[in-house]
Amino acid sequence: MKFSGNAITVQSTDDGIAELCFDLQDESVNKFNALTLDELKEATTAIAADTSIKGVIVTSGKPVFIVGADITEFGALFGGSEESVREKILGINFEIFNAFEDLPVPTVAAINGIALGGGLEMALVCDYRVMSETAKIGLPETKLGIIPGYGGTTRLPRLIGADNAIEWIASGKEQKAEQAHKCGAVDAVVAPELLRDAAVSLLKQCIDGKLDFQAKRREKLEPLKLGKIEATMVFETSKAFVAGQAGPHYPAPVTAIKVMEKAAGMSRDDALKEEASGIAKMAGTLTAKNLVGLFLGDQVLGKTAKDLAKKARKVERAAVLGAGIMGGGIAYQSARKGTPIIMKDIAQAGIDLGLTEASKLLSKQVERGRMSAAEMAGVLARIQPSLGYDGFDNVDVVVEAIVENPKVKHAVLAETEAQIRDDAILASNTSTISITHLAEPLKRPENFCGMHFFNPVHRMPLVEIIRGEKTGEEAVARTVAYALAMGKKPVVVNDCPGFLVNRILMPYFGAFMGLVKRGVDFVSIDRSMERFGWPMGPAYLADVVGIDTGVHAGAVMAAGFPERMKYDFKTCHDVMFENERFGQKNGRGYYAYEPDKKGRPKKIVDESVAALLAPVVDGSETMSKEEIVDSMMIPMCLEAVRCLEDGIAASATDVDLSLIYGIGFPPFRGGALHYIDDYGMAEFVAKADELAEAAGPLRALYQPTEKLREMAASGGAFFG
Ligand SMILES: NC(=O)c1ccc[n+]([C@@H]2O[C@H](COP(=O)([O-])OP(=O)(O)OC[C@H]3O[C@@H](n4cnc5c(N)ncnc54)[C@H](O)[C@@H]3O)[C@@H](O)[C@H]2O)c1
Repeated sequence: MKFSGNAITVQSTDDGIAELCFDLQDESVNKFNALTLDELKEATTAIAADTSIKGVIVTSGKPVFIVGADITEFGALFGGSEESVREKILGINFEIFNAFEDLPVPTVAAINGIALGGGLEMALVCDYRVMSETAKIGLPETKLGIIPGYGGTTRLPRLIGADNAIEWIASGKEQKAEQAHKCGAVDAVVAPELLRDAAVSLLKQCIDGKLDFQAKRREKLEPLKLGKIEATMVFETSKAFVAGQAGPHYPAPVTAIKVMEKAAGMSRDDALKEEASGIAKMAGTLTAKNLVGLFLGDQVLGKTAKDLAKKARKVERAAVLGAGIMGGGIAYQSARKGTPIIMKDIAQAGIDLGLTEASKLLSKQVERGRMSAAEMAGVLARIQPSLGYDGFDNVDVVVEAIVENPKVKHAVLAETEAQIRDDAILASNTSTISITHLAEPLKRPENFCGMHFFNPVHRMPLVEIIRGEKTGEEAVARTVAYALAMGKKPVVVNDCPGFLVNRILMPYFGAFMGLVKRGVDFVSIDRSMERFGWPMGPAYLADVVGIDTGVHAGAVMAAGFPERMKYDFKTCHDVMFENERFGQKNGRGYYAYEPDKKGRPKKIVDESVAALLAPVVDGSETMSKEEIVDSMMIPMCLEAVRCLEDGIAASATDVDLSLIYGIGFPPFRGGALHYIDDYGMAEFVAKADELAEAAGPLRALYQPTEKLREMAASGGAFFG
């Protein structure tokens, strides 16, 4: 027989072996989109009708097997009521995947590359699976806020046991071939070049009756083999553990376990109904909507950056000025990802500190088995410490990361410009100072831009690439290329004090200062914001960033946006600063810090702080958790709106992803602009107006823009 579609082809040989090959035309990968599902249905019907076929191997015509469902089609798949989603998913399962699983002939999947989500679920409907040593498989759906929906929670536990399946599904992690084989997810692992032959040979053994494929298949059709006590143990323990790990805002991992628990005693078909109910319920959550949106936004962001980077010359060698917290981190990250870097400081002590930090980070990786000692030595060798400008005439990019002082930066940038090639790019890691202003003393301002990393550099994905008034396109493109080479997520923004992320963060701190002034306890503010989903509350965050840094940045922002960010009262930050409570760096800020067992600073409530703050507190308000959240989030979200309106960011997606990647905005909330949409734009504007009344001197922070009011009045939204 022969079936030839745009996603699937089937060809059979004279000895009755059919090969069903996934090869989605005009795409670099295979994925389960509507077309592929339709063709799988057609192909399965054709195979079932052809009595000359004795067995089927399932292959891929691409370097991957199947990467999963087509996430761009989730909107269509998950649109409508919970019941209609359930029906849709059940239809796909019964009419397509079960139909394939129930073919009268044996089936073997040849997994040549990545098989994730629906890709692995396709392999699971086959009777046997052979996997290439280099392939990876997994069910990552819970990372998107949903659960596997094409039979993953049904078939995987029946194949590898409930405990393993829970681990795979709740973590969403990719599994290597060795692990997959060990727990029975695949039947054989072979070298890539032997894969097809191995799959055919396995299939022939089934056809010849040497392997009982029907018995193998039956395991997936019957209830899970698990005693009652055993089941209670495995499901109850894991539910508690996973709920603790995922937290209340991420319900999918626990839902997946509950589905597997309920379905454990059921036949395949009943278990699939349970699974369909579970995915339909999860698909309707805001968490799923926002995590899926985040995934899609990230793809757009990545593509935009890659397209820009293609236009630039590759960065072969770099240099960083300053070996402090940021410079040291930049040198480490550059070297770790393969770009050699000169790390220059004016003080030997600075250099020693930078190198010690890099060594510490690398040693940890060696301890964890992620890197060999030789690789570590290689990374360190790519960092060339220096007290002078030797070698600067041979670098493609220099990142300046010295003290946050415009005068010092002006002098050092001009001095550096004289030491580098005419075509080298100079970038500043300033966190607040306008790039246009910093460019003033430069002879080649077109070769200058901002390259703003977030602390700690090795962990925070975002890098803002800032275009000053005179910045040229090559400067932007090459800096984007360098950020990508460092494994970061670059977002190009226009210039203003604080750029995108710090500009949006400042009103959040302003709101915090306003609440403390009105008598709201900062510990309860922190608690409310952490419950909302932030990794740390604002007082704790201020301590981690450094109160001195915060006060300094606040002054720059106040000069830039006096109408909203200049406060005519003494703030709680000012009090901390005056009392030299700089935060974690000197062991005391809003909280006190003591080293924990591992030597990391542990936060403790310091009773003396309330008395220190008393003189700047002129109210005694108590607020509900919801009021605290509204009072804190609205100024931040409104500044995000202004940044979009002012053209600081190119799109709403850029704004939201920058907040998630730069300052840990809760991903399940999708970012500040998604938050406004989810809140209801009209409700958001009304709430802002209500809070403005009560905000006294901080009223301006709560004032919606005219454009936002218009959007709200006409039922608009930032995302479709
Ligand atoms: N710390 C953060 O969280 C953070 C985050 C983003 C951006 N930034 C920005 O990064 C820059 C550096 O901040 P940091 O926290 O790493 O400061 P830091 O004080 O830890 O380090 C600054 C280093 O620069 C060195 N230095 C001073 N003058 C120099 C010169 N002329 N040539 C070479 N080295 C010189 C100092 O000796 C010191 O080692 C600042 O502009 C800051 O605003 C900081």
